[in-house]
Amino acid sequence: MGRMGKDKINSELIKLGSDPNLHHGSLSDPIYKTSTIIFNDYKSFLDAKKNKFKKPYYGRFGNYSVKRFEELICQIYKSHDAIVTSSGLSAITISLLSFLSRGDEVLITENCYEPVYNFCIKELKKFGIKTFFYKNNNPSFLKKLISNRTKLIYIESPGSLNYEVEDIEEIVKIAKKNKIITVMDNTWATFIGLNPLKWGIDIVIESCTKYFSGHSDNFCGIIACCNEHFKKIKQTAVRLGDFVSAEACFNAIKGMRTLSTRLEKHQENSLKVFNYLETKNFIKEIYFLPDKKNIHHKLWKKYFNLSNGLITFSVEKINKIESFVDHLNFFKIGFSWGGYESLILPLNEIKPSLKNYKNSVYWFRIHIGLESADDLIKDLERGFKNYEKK
Ligand SMILES: Cc1ncc(COP(=O)(O)O)c(C=O)c1O
Repeated sequence: MGRMGKDKINSELIKLGSDPNLHHGSLSDPIYKTSTIIFNDYKSFLDAKKNKFKKPYYGRFGNYSVKRFEELICQIYKSHDAIVTSSGLSAITISLLSFLSRGDEVLITENCYEPVYNFCIKELKKFGIKTFFYKNNNPSFLKKLISNRTKLIYIESPGSLNYEVEDIEEIVKIAKKNKIITVMDNTWATFIGLNPLKWGIDIVIESCTKYFSGHSDNFCGIIACCNEHFKKIKQTAVRLGDFVSAEACFNAIKGMRTLSTRLEKHQENSLKVFNYLETKNFIKEIYFLPDKKNIHHKLWKKYFNLSNGLITFSVEKINKIESFVDHLNFFKIGFSWGGYESLILPLNEIKPSLKNYKNSVYWFRIHIGLESADDLIKDLERGFKNYEKK
């Protein structure tokens, strides 16, 4: 999906992959729960074995429902191939494990989602794979980290919690020159907000647990890539025993149909909430990319079609944090984001990527859901009134 008009995306997403003629007139594909696939004869068995990553072979390799979803991913990302995984995190770890072996080095953005950081320093380390963390938007720093052992550069843009944007073109240029594979986490934007493949990224991953599925009730991840990388990644996924259920694919496709419409509302609401937060003088910093004062605003405009419902802000620690959080009605305390509901994540101890972190402030990441923006603002106002009470 390129930079097409909003309504056009809606039409495409509603039509995509629906084939009632195949399923007794059913508008949505049924859920195929198949584990064992039956072959008509020896020849078709051998044929399936030869094409086991593409054709129905054994449920764990992907049954009909999974394969249908993989076809849809190829269409939305305009990729040659796609792999569905059990979660967004498994899409990332499988992609990394597919290309790294003992003695290799990997460059990871400092602003990555924290479990990626942990996977690298705890798990990859066990296999003799060294991780170096690079700073945002600093090509000369990145170049200095490259050695003849560097196999992969991992990008997450905008980065987790602080939404720092990378200059993808610059990183791709450096990677191609040094024959290094690039992997990018595109969960923040989804395929509607950005197609990193168009900017030369080799492998794109997205956690469909977030906006893609959109209802906080589904886990799965997707990987979009070229044919050359597909086989390696699929092989790793199969060897590790990664498995995604047909229900998870069904839920993700269902979410995809309304994704564009939901994202518009998340954006509209988050702009209103941002304008409200700006009026509070006890708020020290606000990270929100549509904010023209944000130092990444220009770069964000260069690459992204949209924003979303994520805002991170800090307050002075002088007052009681719990009196703020516990007086919120709509904003529930919880991990993850991208669902229909508003969430708040207190961030005192979690700080892998928050720049300018000072002990005198306390951070919150909020996810603005699909409720009325007026209600969300009233909710925050009630919380802040309690926070300000002496
Ligand atoms: C940016 C980003 N990437 C990946 C993931 C992992 O996704 P999942 O929860 O589906 O494993 C998350 C989860 O919060 C995330 O925020």
